[in-house]
Amino acid sequence: MPIEIRKAQRIQALPPYLFAEIDRLKREVAGRGVDLINLGIGDPDTPTPPHIVARLREAAADPANHRYPDYEGLPAFREAAAGWIRRRYGITVDPATEVVSLIGSKEGVANLAVAFVDPDDIVLVPDPGYPVYHIGTSFNGGITYRLPLRRENAFLPDLAAIPAEVARRAKLLWLNYPNNPTGAVAPRAFFEDAVRFAERHNVILCHDAAYAEMYFGERPPSVLEVPGGREVAIELHSLSKTFSMTGWRVGFAVGHPELIAGLGKVKTNVDSGVFQAVQEAAIAALTGDLEVVEQLRVMYRERRDVLVAGLHDVGLPCDPPGGTFYVWVPVPRGVAASALALRCLNEAGVVVTPGNGFGEAGEGYIRLTLCSPTARLREAVERLRGLGL
Ligand SMILES: Cc1ncc(COP(=O)(O)O)c(C=O)c1O
Repeated sequence: MPIEIRKAQRIQALPPYLFAEIDRLKREVAGRGVDLINLGIGDPDTPTPPHIVARLREAAADPANHRYPDYEGLPAFREAAAGWIRRRYGITVDPATEVVSLIGSKEGVANLAVAFVDPDDIVLVPDPGYPVYHIGTSFNGGITYRLPLRRENAFLPDLAAIPAEVARRAKLLWLNYPNNPTGAVAPRAFFEDAVRFAERHNVILCHDAAYAEMYFGERPPSVLEVPGGREVAIELHSLSKTFSMTGWRVGFAVGHPELIAGLGKVKTNVDSGVFQAVQEAAIAALTGDLEVVEQLRVMYRERRDVLVAGLHDVGLPCDPPGGTFYVWVPVPRGVAASALALRCLNEAGVVVTPGNGFGEAGEGYIRLTLCSPTARLREAVERLRGLGL
């Protein structure tokens, strides 16, 4: 006899999947034989550099790597991560207490909430933003307080505008620069303000630095570089975008030892770490020649310039992003983001993401990605010209 299956409240409470209609239409349009150009997906189209793949091959063949890995990451991996932080930011951290491996930064975002959010705690979340900040909060009974990122404030949250009572009850503040989806890069002065805010209100500062290496101007700062940052913050780093390794699932968190220990405690109870051979390959990436990363920056910058100039030309003027591989494009006045996204798909065969999929404050924008070759970006622009915007 079938049983009645009732989903947990936390699953039932998930917001409706805003991209479902786009997904359905995507299949329908592709089914008509249209050659879709997918500028919706944030996943590098270039392969992982060969020296990293070669190290995985070797390490995968070693039986020592076939057993359960260390929960918090191989000591050599944590040392490589600490070495990376020293090389990129000039900061010395203790690999044993200030670093933990992650199965990608998404895992860190979700498990930080398990470690630090109690029911009814307020979590301050950027809007628009990566959806997992809110989902993690909601799964653990926390309350999301959204911080709008607006163009007039350079897509930085206005921390001074947070009501005193909200700031008093806040447990965590999420930041993410270079920013998905706006492409904004935060100046050092903003991180200084954020650290002061965290100190004043006793808030844990979580900085998602998944796009730390994807920038087109000066290297973006780490929150750990700012005076006091290491006393209030944890920063999530990922090899996904930096080395075109999204499928490998490897990253690390670095920051205050108690925050690292809390996250580590959750991880020992719910996962068993990153495949050691992948950690060995990640060590090769983190300690190897960084010219491969510079080449990716050059490639994305060229794509950015082609797409931004093209969009300008077809009635979709937008700011060039300072980092990430996203272009955040204002929709023409009076048009809804989802309506424009549907037109792009139906009439031009170009997949874009409506900005309100990242939060209410994303209404009025669409997000395009730079994860396609320049020729495809040029073609996408030509097709969008046909919309007559
Ligand atoms: C802002 C942001 N954070 C984290 C992630 C997760 O990346 P990963 O888990 O591959 O490190 C993504 C992925 O798109 C992202 O956009």
